[in-house]
Amino acid sequence: MSVIPGLEDVAIKYTSLTSIDGQKGILRYRGYDIKDLAYNAEYEEIVHLMFYGELPRHDELERTKKNIAEGYKVPDFVIQVIRTLSSDSDAVAMMETAFGAMATTEKNFAWSKEKDKEIALRIVGSTARVVAEIYRRKRDMPPSTIHEKSGNYSESFLNMCFGNINEKEKIDAMNKALILYVDHEVPASTTAALVASSTLSDMYSSITAALAALKGPLHGGAAEAAYNQFLQIGSPNNVEEWFKKNVMEGKKRLMGFGHRVYKTYDPRMLIFKEIAKKSISDEEGKKLLTVAEKLEELGVKQFSSKGIYPNTDFYSGLVFRYIGFPVDMFTALFALARVTGWLAHIMEYVEDQHRLIRPRAIYTGPERREYVPIEKR
Ligand code: CMC
Repeated sequence: MSVIPGLEDVAIKYTSLTSIDGQKGILRYRGYDIKDLAYNAEYEEIVHLMFYGELPRHDELERTKKNIAEGYKVPDFVIQVIRTLSSDSDAVAMMETAFGAMATTEKNFAWSKEKDKEIALRIVGSTARVVAEIYRRKRDMPPSTIHEKSGNYSESFLNMCFGNINEKEKIDAMNKALILYVDHEVPASTTAALVASSTLSDMYSSITAALAALKGPLHGGAAEAAYNQFLQIGSPNNVEEWFKKNVMEGKKRLMGFGHRVYKTYDPRMLIFKEIAKKSISDEEGKKLLTVAEKLEELGVKQFSSKGIYPNTDFYSGLVFRYIGFPVDMFTALFALARVTGWLAHIMEYVEDQHRLIRPRAIYTGPERREYVPIEKR
């Protein structure tokens, strides 16, 4: 046996879902380039692509949308559970609680190739409702009442959060952000979901495991951390000094930079940057964007020789802010999209390649010793 720190370059499964070329900065879902999908598709098409293997025809898309919309009606007790949590709770911890609550209804869950995809589609819908209710709880707003309205997923989700939203550009930015975050092979959160599902645990519980792994600042929490850097810097004039003091001398990590797989620009980051530059028009937003661009320039100059470049989380927060979300929702929005990738991966694994994931640890402690009674220690 050998220990492989961080499981770097260890493959845990075969997949036909997502491919990444970390040297060239290429990301594809089932062979389709991420930019092509982000600029042309609707989120529900990508959900269908990930679950069923092909882009849907019209009738297939309608069926997929209907199944997702079924999931918007989460049981009342789940909404009540969210309501009992304090409004200043961490949004992803609130999601874990909601998914834990939904798992209580799955006592007799059994994996079944025939039924899994429909359940997964409903979970995608339920996630939108749960995240919207968390947003509303955190703002002391009453539960949403308009979740049964039609519209595409992004529009329905924003309606659930904010009430009626008629801004096409914001719905479009939400749709793109969801597509960009759908899947990324097997990062820590997806691996956590795979470990849980490999015990034949239910889908909701597996998602709860994924959420726990996503939450940290080295993974899903990075968008919040990157955006907080911009706030802390405050003005484009402060970027150089902040970088020198914190990153060069303080040795702090530049958040939203670096990736285990990409050793060049993350293609998702380039698209988030394009959306931010095209959409942001308010003064505060433009100031933060300039801060981000200056910081990117310094970061690339400093770190590119080590293969460290900005990742997807560097500009995504600015796009979420443009849509209307506060920073404390950014990681939950990442989870909202990624639930599709988690579900697609656990179905691919459990249905086609199942084996209990049970690695080993190499023991380095003392040899056999005699027990010493407490009074003699
Ligand atoms: N700023 C400064 N130095 C860095 C950074 C960074 N953001 N990232 C890596 N390094 C340096 C690190 O100090 C180390 O240097 P040395 O070899 O001299 O000790 C070297 O690069 C390798 O770092 P590592 O942590 O061993 O590499 P990793 O493959 O485990 O790192 C990472 C991946 C994402 C944890 C890391 O790049 C990082 O902490 N980035 C900041 C957090 C972040 O933006 N996370 C989001 C990742 S992408 C979206 C997602 O998956 O959620």
